[in-house]
Amino acid sequence: MIIAIDGPAASGKGTLGKRLAAHYGYRHLDTGLIYRAVAKAVLDAGHQLTDEAQAVAAAVALDTGQLESPDLKTDVMGQAASVVSAYPGVRAALFDFQRDFASHPPGAVLDGRDIGTIICPHAEVKIFVVASPEVRARRRTLEIVARGETADEAAVLDDIKKRDERDRNRAAAPLKAAPDAHLLDTSALDIEGAVRAAIDIVEAVRAGR
Ligand code: DC
Repeated sequence: MIIAIDGPAASGKGTLGKRLAAHYGYRHLDTGLIYRAVAKAVLDAGHQLTDEAQAVAAAVALDTGQLESPDLKTDVMGQAASVVSAYPGVRAALFDFQRDFASHPPGAVLDGRDIGTIICPHAEVKIFVVASPEVRARRRTLEIVARGETADEAAVLDDIKKRDERDRNRAAAPLKAAPDAHLLDTSALDIEGAVRAAIDIVEAVRAGR
């Protein structure tokens, strides 16, 4: 079975997807990390994010075995990923890896922005996760503070809104719910509640409800 988790609040850096995958014994891929890794490669090589040809070259050369670096999880890299992920050549270069990851038994959970629409349109379960930008900014700020860093919640909120806007309005694989996706609003849920709600959705689909 393939479970596609998309939406502006899908990631929480992969926590929901990871928990769901662990529950079902499936493999998990946080696809945001591959776009973040492409952005990092472009910046590390001293190029501008606006250099589309360099971004495509970085995507083609990407080592998908190297997605664990904590450097990928910063807000700066999230914004940078949002820029390079708008290039169709970048998305095309990363397509086969994601498709292939999803295809192996016993099943996989992929989270991102276009899993249910483009990467795995035939996924058995599609969940589109939303939460208000204010709630997401609060969560994000608490995460940053928990790491011992300082965060300006208003600036975090501003970044979230800018990123959503860019992801929704790009021509290539824009962020949108697949018509057969189940909407999960986590604004009033903590992570435990969100995991339970996601499992309820999977179980309802499995039971044919
Ligand atoms: O989920 P995340 O914060 O790691 O994603 C970072 C950016 O990468 C996001 O703003 C848009 C892009 N992205 C994408 O275009 N498609 C995906 N499947 C996953 C992420």
